[in-house]
Amino acid sequence: MRLQLVLMGVVGAVLAVGAGAYQLSRIGIHQGYSPAQPIAFPHKIHAGDNKIPCLYCHYAARTSRHAGIPPASVCMNCHTILEKQTVEIEKLKEAVQQQRPVRWVKVHNLPDFVYFNHSQHVVSGVACQRCHGPVETMERVTQFAPLTMGWCLQCHREQAKLPVGEFERATLSLKQRQKPAAGLDCASCHY
Ligand code: HEC
Ligand code: HEC
Ligand code: HEC
Ligand code: HEC
Ligand code: HEC
Repeated sequence: MRLQLVLMGVVGAVLAVGAGAYQLSRIGIHQGYSPAQPIAFPHKIHAGDNKIPCLYCHYAARTSRHAGIPPASVCMNCHTILEKQTVEIEKLKEAVQQQRPVRWVKVHNLPDFVYFNHSQHVVSGVACQRCHGPVETMERVTQFAPLTMGWCLQCHREQAKLPVGEFERATLSLKQRQKPAAGLDCASCHY
């Protein structure tokens, strides 16, 4: 019991320090944030007009914490064959020739004291668009969701309310049955 209290104190202190630093770092990073990129990469032409699947480029989202940005070699799968030349495509080819990585500017930034993992969501069938909006229509990526704790919890609560069918229930282990599908307890997202 005493140990639990001490531990809770430690967790609380870590969160408080993290939250303080986070308030300072939060400036300019919010819903609607849409920074210019070193190469004006249009999702609309790729994921919209040409229907390239999100996971073709962000393949890591299925298996790991980060969705990842594709290396230029993935871009060159198509751009060595495609004839179209623009100033922006020229920048891509120059970076490849000079073996220089493209320094994409990060759009989404959760504070370090939050644990978020793409694969947990993608494997459960949550569509990219539920969190990122209609990226396939965007010329430049914009942060669509607020990424606040309330936003995470709202979806987790809806998810926990969904009835579990007889078949699914029979295939769950005892531990899984007791645990809500998407976490509501602090330790799911903070540790
Ligand atoms: C042809 C490759 C390609 C495809 C297909 C693609 N993306 Fe991207 N995506 C990129 C690149 C490159 C960036 C980094 C530049 C930028 O932010 O525009 C990026 C950035 C992003 C970001 C912002 C990342 C950050 O910095 O926070 C999100 C969100 C995203 N993509 C979602 C999607 C979704 C959803 C789809 C499918 C509808 C998709 N992408 C399809 C290449 C791709
Ligand atoms: C449940 C909500 C949710 C879903 C579903 C989701 N994302 Fe994300 N995505 C986030 C959050 C939150 C961040 C910020 C993570 C951070 O800063 O650590 C993020 C960041 C990203 C980034 C930039 C950082 C990184 O992780 O590499 C890319 C690219 C991205 N998402 C693409 C996608 C794609 C593509 C899909 C679908 C296959 C997808 N996301 C599905 C919430 C989501
Ligand atoms: C699966 C094929 C494919 C991949 C992979 C791909 N592209 Fe493209 N890209 C295209 C097509 C198709 C067009 C449209 C060309 C046209 O209109 O003839 C295009 C056009 C472009 C344009 C020009 C947009 C404009 O305004 O006309 C840029 C810039 C670009 N791509 C950058 C990238 C970058 C950077 C990557 C890697 C992150 C990438 N592409 C990956 C197929 C691809
Ligand atoms: C649009 C709905 C949605 C949003 C928004 C969302 N989640 Fe989830 N989350 C889910 C679903 C669905 C699962 C998977 C449940 C399963 O597979 O049993 C999940 C699972 C998780 C898990 C693993 C399960 C656990 O309890 O340990 C974590 C951690 C998590 N989410 C964190 C976050 C964080 C952090 C955010 C906000 C940045 C977030 N989620 C936003 C739907 C969502
Ligand atoms: C589903 C994921 C999730 C769960 C569960 C969760 N949090 Fe959070 N929490 C977040 C995210 C994301 C942020 C950062 C965004 C924000 O400040 O709204 C955050 C921020 C915080 C902050 C900093 C607040 C601020 O304003 O800067 C504190 C303190 C906190 N959480 C405590 C808790 C406690 C205590 C619990 C349990 C009752 C909990 N969290 C449960 C996702 C979660």
